[in-house]
Amino acid sequence: MQPTVIAPSILSADFARLGEEVDRVLAAGADWVHFDVMDNHYVPNLTIGPMVCAALRKYGIRAPIDVHLMVSPVDRIVGDFAQAGASLISFHPEASSHVHRTIQLIRSHGCQAGLVLNPATPVEVLDWVLEDLDLVLLMSVNPGFGGQAFIPTALEKLKRVREKIDASGRPIRLEIDGGVKADNIHAIAAAGADTFVAGSAIFGASDYAEVIGKMKAEVAR
Ligand code: DX5
Ligand code: ZN
Repeated sequence: MQPTVIAPSILSADFARLGEEVDRVLAAGADWVHFDVMDNHYVPNLTIGPMVCAALRKYGIRAPIDVHLMVSPVDRIVGDFAQAGASLISFHPEASSHVHRTIQLIRSHGCQAGLVLNPATPVEVLDWVLEDLDLVLLMSVNPGFGGQAFIPTALEKLKRVREKIDASGRPIRLEIDGGVKADNIHAIAAAGADTFVAGSAIFGASDYAEVIGKMKAEVAR
């Protein structure tokens, strides 16, 4: 199991003050910045692209930027995000014609590679690519929007992916995304996650440090 990472999703931040919001959340104890990219094609919503990622780097953000691509096709945007300062790039297998090729493409740009499983995507998709992955991201909501409720079957799925990762013997992170709150994060950690995305639970709170501190305490207890 890797050290705990809390990755606030900036989808729920105030976009008019994005640099300040990211500064504040990092100062409050966040480890990574989770960067949700939606294209109004793979998912029914439209968000931000490489220019905003580059702008955050230019503004002075040094923390890892965890890019979650909800776009189809994937490959042609990978290089732009690598250039814009992405640290990790994750994509959905349904959005790529050649999953193994896309993983290699991400790595060839010097970024860490992650594969994202939707709530109904079988875990077997990992079987032939796990050794090339740095991260597996399990969706505990259907992708497209912040503020949705955690789908409970994700707990069983986390356990199954945790077994696969442990069997691989590789330091692969297991990230969970969707409906993560201080009051369910303990059960999510117990099921095997080590990396936690939270959007509305963090940016919707008045005190970011308090909620992030509570999440870390719940994971550790
Ligand atoms: C949903 C995104 C999530 C979202 C999480 O498609 O991938 O990262 O922002 O938001 P919350 O934590 O509010 O469910
Ligand atoms: Zn996400």
